[in-house]
Amino acid sequence: MTTSTALAHPNIAFIKYWGNRDNELRLPVNGSISMNLDGLFTKTTVTFNSSKQDSLSINNSEVKGKGLERVSYILDIVRKMANINEKAEVTSENNFPAGAGIASSAAAFAALALSASKAAGLNLSESELSKLARRGSGSASRSIPSGFVEWQMGKSEEDSFAFSIADVKHWNLVDCIAVVSSAHKKTGSTEGHAIAGTSPLQSARVADTTRRLDICRNAILKKDFETFANIIEHDSDMMHAVMMTSNPPLMYWQSATVEIFHQVREWRKNGLPVGYTVDAGANVHVLCLGEYAKEVEKRLRELNGVKDVLVAGVGGGAKII
Ligand code: DP6
Repeated sequence: MTTSTALAHPNIAFIKYWGNRDNELRLPVNGSISMNLDGLFTKTTVTFNSSKQDSLSINNSEVKGKGLERVSYILDIVRKMANINEKAEVTSENNFPAGAGIASSAAAFAALALSASKAAGLNLSESELSKLARRGSGSASRSIPSGFVEWQMGKSEEDSFAFSIADVKHWNLVDCIAVVSSAHKKTGSTEGHAIAGTSPLQSARVADTTRRLDICRNAILKKDFETFANIIEHDSDMMHAVMMTSNPPLMYWQSATVEIFHQVREWRKNGLPVGYTVDAGANVHVLCLGEYAKEVEKRLRELNGVKDVLVAGVGGGAKII
């Protein structure tokens, strides 16, 4: 019996991953950039033992069906790599509320890739771990390295992995997450990726990715907040334009989402360094410089429709604990 426990943080994408060129391998149609979210984490323990089937428990409740299948898919890859046959018991806990609009799959599959490979006796490199996590959830590839991270789309399965472009201490950015809806989203990312190509806007968005990646990467490296805020809003708006014009159309925003966009732009015009980005949900991630986080949190809490605000700084990479 071999066991291992790993911890990983969720991440927020600044340049978004939306659409795959290979859904099975999760090879994306474009590169992406993100930051890990400190304080929020998933902790996962994997034990290979003599049980007859894989089992999964999340926050003390047993998961079967699709959730378990997705985990077994990763365990199968690990078993093949390590040349073992044992089934595994997987127990996982998140310290952030489910349905808070924070992609739990990124932290979950990063923690699973690390704990499962260690428990199987493998010592994978960071890029190998990132590729393994990617097979479970694309964005999980970015929760393996530390701090500010870029996932290169790669030419093949072999070079589609993420790496750190700047470490945790590089820039004191804070994500103030305005929760406007805790309802479970109707269409998950996996289904969304599969229909991204039905939007006539997707090819233009993809063709323009290198430009956005370069602007965002440089803004992070130079700590140029104004450029950073403009490019993350632009990229998020482009992804949502694709979502809204897909077949079937995906509309993740609520009226409170749009109200926050207007406020954030107004605040920035008046000198407060803030910028927004939204994933496949209604909640708004408002990025700011660390010294303004208290003020941003206070202003967000005063807005109609904001139910809660979670605050997270820059997080480290996935680690064994
Ligand atoms: C909008 O990584 O959750 O958050 O690979 O199907 O699990 P799967 O999708 P996922 O997609 C993330 C979409 C996004 C943008 C991003 O995080 O880059």
